[in-house]
Amino acid sequence: MCTSYLDDKFVTFRNLPMEQRISCFTKRGRVFDMIMSQQMDRQFIDDIYHLTNKLRHISKSKAGYMFLQNILAHKRAMLYFNQPSSRTFLSFHNACHILGMKTSEIRDPALSSEVKGESDDDGLRTFSSYTDLIIMRHSKSHMAERAAWLLNTFSNRPIPIINGGSGQDQHPTQSLLDIYTLQRSFNNKGGFDGKTLLMCGDLKRGRTVRSLSFLMRNFSDVKVIYAAPKAFQIREDVLEALESYGVPYTIETESLQKVLPLADAIYMTRIQDEHDRDHGDSGKIDISKFKLKASDMVNVKPTAAIMHPFPRRDEVDVEIDVDPRAMYWRQERNGMWTRAALISYIFGVEHEILNY
Ligand code: NCD
Repeated sequence: MCTSYLDDKFVTFRNLPMEQRISCFTKRGRVFDMIMSQQMDRQFIDDIYHLTNKLRHISKSKAGYMFLQNILAHKRAMLYFNQPSSRTFLSFHNACHILGMKTSEIRDPALSSEVKGESDDDGLRTFSSYTDLIIMRHSKSHMAERAAWLLNTFSNRPIPIINGGSGQDQHPTQSLLDIYTLQRSFNNKGGFDGKTLLMCGDLKRGRTVRSLSFLMRNFSDVKVIYAAPKAFQIREDVLEALESYGVPYTIETESLQKVLPLADAIYMTRIQDEHDRDHGDSGKIDISKFKLKASDMVNVKPTAAIMHPFPRRDEVDVEIDVDPRAMYWRQERNGMWTRAALISYIFGVEHEILNY
């Protein structure tokens, strides 16, 4: 099929209202493709929370582990990652294996027919010929959305697509593991409702921050604080979404210090300099006031959760790792379990797990 023909059709699709786009990724009233955070309602988030906890519990015994090994043993997943990844790739890889799935992968586009001039669309249809699920990370924004739309609209083999990070746009499974971590951290502290989430770092180009922001509509009385220098501040579309959800936010451009004591959860991120127009441009912006230092911890609430999607550079002092408020290593491990829960949900085997 001619790519420009599909380009035009996809532009038309992306101009549809959000609910209509989301309905393309829903089958029988359930999430089928996981493309963007706006697909997740509170019921879904809570269902994944319970399913994740159940999976963790089951896998502790050999009998439980063997039960899980059988649950999707008849399914194959393809991991297609054209951008660097450690956590997302490995956590998905292991999540598939926990459920007994077989996996294949392309991590280097130089080893695929992309180098022979094959279009992304044809490549994706090819992957769908051999497997039952595509988990993809792509440097182009909206590529996962395009893949899911393409398979659902034009293919007779519309297998589910999971977005493992699409350009600067979204990283919905990161937001799923982030919200799981927040719900777990505040489980005995009244839950995440009513809490203040402070996000700091490269808010402009960080897809994790965007995806987590879009989830805020599912919680009552939450507030968001965006702390970053002007050049790295959150984009207007996220602020417009928060306004439409009625979620209050504030923008802090001077220093992290000023807002630290207000936060229940602090979500730190690194500068995404791989997106610099001119290599090294980000380095010209002073971010020294937007780092979390060990000496700052006295100003952080005793009940706060410190989060980071990782990889980390120097925006969180390593000394903070031993502080009980540091949740990022747990957050990382939570990713594997929430992703296993999501995959089992997509294949409709969650009741077998919950009834075990
Ligand atoms: C993030 C990503 O790739 O968007 N990492 C991740 O998936 N855990 C954040 C980042 O790269 O800074």
